[in-house]
Amino acid sequence: MATTRGATAINKAIKFIPDLVLLNDEMQTLKGLDVLKELRSYSEFKDTPVIMLSRSADKSNIINSIKSGANDYVVTPFDIGVLFAKIIGWQNSEMETQWHGLSHEQAKILRLLKVMIEEAFENVRKSTPLSASLIRYACEILYLTIESEGADAILKAVEGYNTTMFLHSLLTCVYMMLFTRYKRYAKDSCIELAMGGLLHDIGSAKIPNNILFKPGKLDINEYIEIKAHVQYGIEIMDKTPDLPQVVKDICLYHHERLDGSGYYGIKAEKISTGGRLAAIIETYCAITTKTVYRQPKTTAEAIATLMSLQDQLDPKLLEDFKEAATNNFKVNNVKVKQP
Ligand SMILES: [Fe+2]
Ligand SMILES: [Fe+2]
Repeated sequence: MATTRGATAINKAIKFIPDLVLLNDEMQTLKGLDVLKELRSYSEFKDTPVIMLSRSADKSNIINSIKSGANDYVVTPFDIGVLFAKIIGWQNSEMETQWHGLSHEQAKILRLLKVMIEEAFENVRKSTPLSASLIRYACEILYLTIESEGADAILKAVEGYNTTMFLHSLLTCVYMMLFTRYKRYAKDSCIELAMGGLLHDIGSAKIPNNILFKPGKLDINEYIEIKAHVQYGIEIMDKTPDLPQVVKDICLYHHERLDGSGYYGIKAEKISTGGRLAAIIETYCAITTKTVYRQPKTTAEAIATLMSLQDQLDPKLLEDFKEAATNNFKVNNVKVKQP
């Protein structure tokens, strides 16, 4: 069903309740954004995936669309394959079905982080700079959402799914935020460390899937290629203006270990604090997430595994992380919204 008029689109949509809405932001009589807002005001359309099509690649338009309830955004003219991939992605996304029970703010931050992660990976594939200000904005919203509603619902909404680069990036970002808030780091530090968590593996976008998701042991050339995700990430970060140094450090050092047994043999004194923290948190996220090859560890099992790596991971940060995880990252001033 297609129409060029905004008011007609709303009437038809209410009558037929489509599975998915493609909305051009240049419709007649009403702007696409107004149609989107009106559609979202009906309870029947609370969960319907909406993809906004626009000639504008302006970042503020993308953010406005997402804030107004769009699930995704495609710049026209577009490759039909790109659009199909997005449609299939949204229709097949089991993860999204678990977002239905979330509050407006919680669903919004998940959609925002999803868009940020996908766009960052696309930037790496195209060798174009990241948008540091948008990524910072998303992490600021995450900070505020966790401050007002905690993170339990967000984490529950992505629980049980096989790990993907999206999920791993999201979890590393959220746990980085949870830990730093628990330890009462300054707000800016929480946000910048969370940005590092979000972006630490973006270089993986250049690694072929057959190597990235290989179930068995990697051969030497495959291992060298996997290691290169650090360099691929740094290459893009070096091209990106206004990216905090700690974000680059996290990308550079997250696979280094105190005893020099990491990717590039960098030892304790050379590894930044952000890199040491990321090594702990991204390992925790990796082993507590299901993959197609193994079941996830529980929090207690994961902590025990991390504690067995005391020669490799920063002992003080490890102790702090253990305490934070044991207390479920609860901060006294978290206000939990009443239903
Ligand atoms: Fe990595
Ligand atoms: Fe990672």
